[in-house]
This record gives sequence, structure tokens and C-alpha cells, in this order.
Amino acid sequence: MKAFVYQNPTRLIFGKGTLAQLTSQIPQQARVLLVYGGGSIKRNGLYDQVVSLLRPHVSHLAEFGGVEPNPRLTTVHKGAAICKEQNIDFILAVGGGSVIDCVKAIAVAAKMEGEVWDVISGKQSATAALPLGTVLTLAATGSEMNVNSVITNWETQEKLGWGSALVFPQFSILDPIFTFSVPRDQTIYGMVDIMSHVFEQYFNHTGNTLVQDGFSEAILRTVIATAPKLLDNLESYEHRETILYSGTLALNGTLSMGITGDWATHNIEHAVSAVYDIPHGGGLAILFPSWMEHVLDEGVARFKQFAVNVFGIDPAGKSDRETALEGIQALRDFWTSIGAPSRLADYEIGDDKLELMADKAMLFGSFGHFKKLQREDVLAIYRASL
Ligand code: NZQ
Ligand code: ZN
Repeated sequence: MKAFVYQNPTRLIFGKGTLAQLTSQIPQQARVLLVYGGGSIKRNGLYDQVVSLLRPHVSHLAEFGGVEPNPRLTTVHKGAAICKEQNIDFILAVGGGSVIDCVKAIAVAAKMEGEVWDVISGKQSATAALPLGTVLTLAATGSEMNVNSVITNWETQEKLGWGSALVFPQFSILDPIFTFSVPRDQTIYGMVDIMSHVFEQYFNHTGNTLVQDGFSEAILRTVIATAPKLLDNLESYEHRETILYSGTLALNGTLSMGITGDWATHNIEHAVSAVYDIPHGGGLAILFPSWMEHVLDEGVARFKQFAVNVFGIDPAGKSDRETALEGIQALRDFWTSIGAPSRLADYEIGDDKLELMADKAMLFGSFGHFKKLQREDVLAIYRASL
């Protein structure tokens, strides 16, 4: 393991009925901005519940709806302007990863004079942020318990991840019931994203990561076993609960203690989403198996471990490489079996913008740790995914 410091200050409030704790998490008389997405929380009744709890508790309640999936810089600007105009001192995100990510950027933008894109693009660090909390409605990103945020600048077609300890949610309320209404496709993308977060940390060369490996393999096996049952019954409390908890654990820092993760596939996917605005989990389902095949020879033993411990591939009579390849194929087959996309063509993406996407992915130079990827690697992975 590598030396590490771990601190995660987010209070995780998980389970049935936990929304009742909302007001105890927000200072009385706060001036609150409630931020949400395109309307799912109005359709499933969560909006009414949140507003009726908040209204008697706070001194001012403003709201900002319409945050889009793959949230945009222009939306961050609008939210920050409301915070400044109305003297907001607490932001509540109610939604999926896009709403939470947008709120993290709004929280920083509201406290700065300059352009928040400079923070997102790494030109400067965040120096202050409004406090924020979340009510999560979609199991996927882990944003409810981490410092990350991903924002798209549609003008420059850049989708960039950034992070700051200043934007850890103070609390996150997760009731599996709020995820019942997540449509089938978004449920699938969410599960792919959760598995991909595990992969980004599991495929490493660190050494002596037995505990981390065990956690990772358990989450992967659990999602694989639960996914078909959940897709058979989208309103199963038990299965929604399992996936929701998996999503938070997959990216709240637990798996990466002492590890240098890879994160190349996320970068490659963000470049696709930046140009084509496709769902993040859909892009990952297409690209991750191609990345695995591309980097396999950097660490065949680890891919064999994955094949055996996660998919139960029998290694008897096979070379390590054959076992490893069977594991990658098993992943493709599993994702196909639950209805995830498998080729860029599924989003009508051809080969005409591969160079542009590679430019976006290479914005900060070569990347990835399991194998450091150069431009030709990125192009090879895109071509293998057509
Ligand atoms: O906007 P609304 O109407 O709420 O609808 C959303 C949206 O259309 C809908 N939805 C969410 N909860 C629902 C629901 N529909 C019905 N019932 C509910 N309970 O689902 C759609 C997708 O929502 P979104 O928030 O975009 O999905 P997700 O949570 O997957 O977030 C994706 C974004 O997070 C970024 C991605 O790149 C993408 O921009 N990521 C953020 C990370 C982080 N902060 O740590 C890490 C990830 O790797 C990822 O990159
Ligand atoms: Zn992701």
C-alpha cells in the first residue's frame, strides 16, 4: 500500500424514512437554495416533501430547477447568481449526480469574484464554498459522499472533473424509496457507473491491497447478482437499497485508501460525453471492456484475479491470459444481458470525430496509471469501441 490520509466528513443518513432528519441538518433560519433537475422530483412527490419540511424551518427558500444531465457551466453561473442576489447561505441538492455536481460548482462560484471555470479546469484552487447537503435520488456517481464534480463547458466542448475538500456535502440523505422511480435505462447506467468506479480503483499496480481487493470484488459480485433482480422489479426496496449502498461505497474513498487508481476510462468517456452529450454510464459500458483489452498485458495477473474472483471463471487448463480474456468477455456479456449499450454505434457515433474526442481526452497530456495512455492508445480504444 501507499501511505495515505483518509478523512470523509460527510454525514451519511441512509434508509427508509430518513428524510425526516432533513431539518435537523440545516441551520434554523438559514437562507437556502433548493436545486433540482428536470422535474423527476416533482413527479415522484419528493419535491413537495422537501419543501414542506424546509418552509417552516428556514428564513428564506429559493429554488433553482432544470439542472441538466451532464450539467453545464452556464447552469452553474445561473445558480451562483441566485446565491449572490439572494444572500444564500446553504445549498440543498435534491437529485442525481448531475444536480449534486452542479451544486458543488455553484457553492464555489457563489463565493468567488472570478470565473469558476478556472477552478474546474485547474487554473486555480477553490478558496471558499457555501455549505451544501444532498438528498440523493439515483444510485451511480458517489457524488453524495465525495469531493468530485464534473461540469461541461458546452462552448468549448470540454467536460472536466474537479474536486475540493470544500465541497464535501455536509450530509447526504439516501432513502432507497426515492430511487424507485429511476427509469430502467438510468438504473442500468447507474449500475455500470458503480462497477466502473470499482474498476478504476481495482486495476492498480500498488501491491498488498488484499482488503481493498476484497471490498472491491464483493461490491462487483453484489451488483452483478442484484442487477437482474432489480431490473425485474424496479420497485424492490431490498434491491434498490443494495445498489444505493454499493454506489456510495464505490466512490467515497473506501476502496482507494493506499491505492493509486487509474481513471483513464472516465477521462476517455468524458471526452465522448463532451462532444456527443451521451449518458456517462452508457459511455462507460462501451469503453471499459475496450480499455481492459488494450491494457491487459500491463497486468495479466490482476485481470485473471478479476475473472476468477468476480465472475467465477475456472482457470484450470488455461493460460492466465486466456482466463483474463474470459473475464473481460464475461463483463461484456453481463452488461449486454442487462441492456447496456456495447458499441459507440449504439449512440450513432461513427469515426468522424475520433480525433476531436482524442484531443479532448489529451487536454492535460497522457493519463492513466495502470497503463499511461498516449494519444494513439486513446484512438485505438475509440476504434475498438466503434
Ligand atoms: O433531471 P431529473 O428530472 O431529476 O431526471 C434525472 C436525469 O434525467 C433522472 N433521475 C434522477 N433521479 C431520478 C430520476 N428520474 C426518476 N426518478 C428519480 N429518482 O435521471 C437522469 C440522469 O440523472 P443524472 O443526475 O445525470 O445521473 P447520474 O447520477 O448518473 O449523474 C451523471 C453525472 O455525474 C457525473 C457524470 O459525468 C455525469 O455528468 N459523474 C460524477 C462523479 C462524481 N461527482 O463523483 C463521478 C462519476 O464518474 C461521473 O463522472
Ligand atoms: Zn463514473
